[in-house]
Amino acid sequence: MSIFVKYVIGNWKLNPKTPAESLALAQGLQALGAGKVKVGCTPSFVHLAGVTDVLKTSDVWVGVQDVSAFGATGAFTGDVSAVQVTELGAKFTLIGHSERRQYHGESDKTLAQKMINAHLANLVVVFCVGESLDEYQSGLAFNVLDKQLSVLHQIDKSQINADKLIIAYEPVWAIGTGLTPTLDEIKKTHAHIKHYLSTQCHADLPVLYGGSVNDKNASDIASCQGVDGVLVGGASLKIESFAPIVSAFSQLS
Ligand code: PGA
Repeated sequence: MSIFVKYVIGNWKLNPKTPAESLALAQGLQALGAGKVKVGCTPSFVHLAGVTDVLKTSDVWVGVQDVSAFGATGAFTGDVSAVQVTELGAKFTLIGHSERRQYHGESDKTLAQKMINAHLANLVVVFCVGESLDEYQSGLAFNVLDKQLSVLHQIDKSQINADKLIIAYEPVWAIGTGLTPTLDEIKKTHAHIKHYLSTQCHADLPVLYGGSVNDKNASDIASCQGVDGVLVGGASLKIESFAPIVSAFSQLS
């Protein structure tokens, strides 16, 4: 993926309640996403078809929040495959979001398999990593990030496509809390992740920041060295708060 483009991706999580609300949100996105900012959104699976339809003539990238670690089709009750979402027009998927790790106990092995399946289906993967509050306070953040990123080596090189990989750094303690690391911490952590990727994976990948990004802090975060974009949860659910975040990135020279 290009590190010259900036990515502003909405993680809609388990929102909104109705298809009509998702479609309205998608309509609001239609005008965004041109130029050097790649705007994306990740509706619920059940709203995916409607949202891809609304956005099919726009530059907005539609993705999903997860894919199955199992087959493209088959006896895997409750799962949704990368191939199925590609058929509906999805172009990317999040993998390893901390809420998946926490509530679904997703292991590194599972995440590696999801990544393989996503790339087999030609989806771009936004691989999420981030430390907990305890790990942050104990000064272990970089060790945790290295361990989470090491999943990338567990995958055979023939099964992973670095051209379709983006990393999202999301400190767990910053998600939905209104707290963010300082700009200096963000800069240092992104530099650490980029150093890890270039030395251990020989890859130069975009690294997004996520965790309590909003219309107030977006400009500062956008101007932070090493930040190639943002993954936005709560503030992506209203165009009034999401559009200014996109503007903050499009105004960068
Ligand atoms: P938040 O969520 O912006 O609501 O903190 C970010 C995320 O979980 O991706």
